[in-house]
Formats: sequence, C-alpha cells, structure tokens
Amino acid sequence: MKRRAIYPGSFDPPTYGHIDIIRRSLQIVDEVVVAVVYNPQKDNFLFTPQERIDMFRQELTDVGDRVQYDNFHGLLVDYADKQQARIIIRGLRAVSDFDYEFQMALMNRRMKPHIETIFLMTGAAHFYTASRLVKEIASLDGNVDGLVPPHVAARLKEKFAKR
Ligand code: PNS
Repeated sequence: MKRRAIYPGSFDPPTYGHIDIIRRSLQIVDEVVVAVVYNPQKDNFLFTPQERIDMFRQELTDVGDRVQYDNFHGLLVDYADKQQARIIIRGLRAVSDFDYEFQMALMNRRMKPHIETIFLMTGAAHFYTASRLVKEIASLDGNVDGLVPPHVAARLKEKFAKR
C-alpha cells in the first residue's frame, strides 16, 4: 500500500521553507498531497487557492506525480480521511511554532487517532522564513530574494502594486 501524506497549510505565499519540506517528505512517504486551505465565507488570503497551487507547481516541476495539489476547507482530519491519508506532515521552525503545532496535533489525534502527525524540522536556512513576514516585507517594497522563488517574488510585487 502506498504511503500517502497530506501537507496542509495556508501557503500564502509558498516559501522556500515549504518547498524544502515537500522535497524532504518525499524521502519518507510515497505521495504527498499539498493541501491549500481556504475559507469559503471570508477569504482573507492574498492569493487565491489556485494561485498558491500554481506557484508550487511552477517550482516543483521535477517531482512528477508523487506530489499532488488540492485545496480544502473544513476539518483537516476529515479531509485526510477523504484522501485516504493517515499522515499529516508539518514543518517545525523555531520554538514559537511548538505550542500551536503541539495543540493542533493533539486535537487532530483526539478526533481521529488513526491519523498521525509527523513533524519535519525546517532546513536551517529557513528557520525564520514565514509567509506572514514575506508578505509584510514585500508590501513595504523590501527584498524577499532567497525567501521565496523569483516567480513568487514577482507575483507579490504585482499584487502589492495593484493595492
Ligand atoms: O500554514 P498554517 O496557516 O499554519 O496552516 C494551518 C492549518 C491549515 C493546518 C490549520 O489551520 C488547519 O488544519 N485548518 C483546518 C481546520 C481544522 O482542522 N481545524 C482544527 C485544527 S485542530
């Protein structure tokens, strides 16, 4: 049986940190579904789910169909069941991530004990990379080179130029 994992997140926008986690997760599972969260009621993301998926696709052209892309809303554990995945992958950065991630992993396990969360330590180069900070820097016309791929930086520039 294929080992299938969900890599969920808001990815608004995808960073090199996320891309590193996807590539490394392919060393431990057979398939990864990158699941972009959205809120059908009130979408307060900068990029649409499709734009976020497009940015991943553009960066991960070499991985083939072991990486799939989707968007979801509602409970993550329900989505994982729907995808027949028993593994949720999350990246862990600084200590500040731990509390939130620990809480979420335990809540998810409480709801669906057959689904396991696996944490991958972020690459050292991405320890402080966060989509939220990338957006803030880009919105103030700062340099985001090295944090996100050049095509993502270009899309950020385009979005903020329109605002
Ligand atoms: O990249 P993020 O914003 O840290 O990702 C958070 C995400 C999408 C994993 C989390 O918000 C989530 O799982 N949302 C779906 C709703 C859900 O299942 N909530 C209960 C969590 S215990």
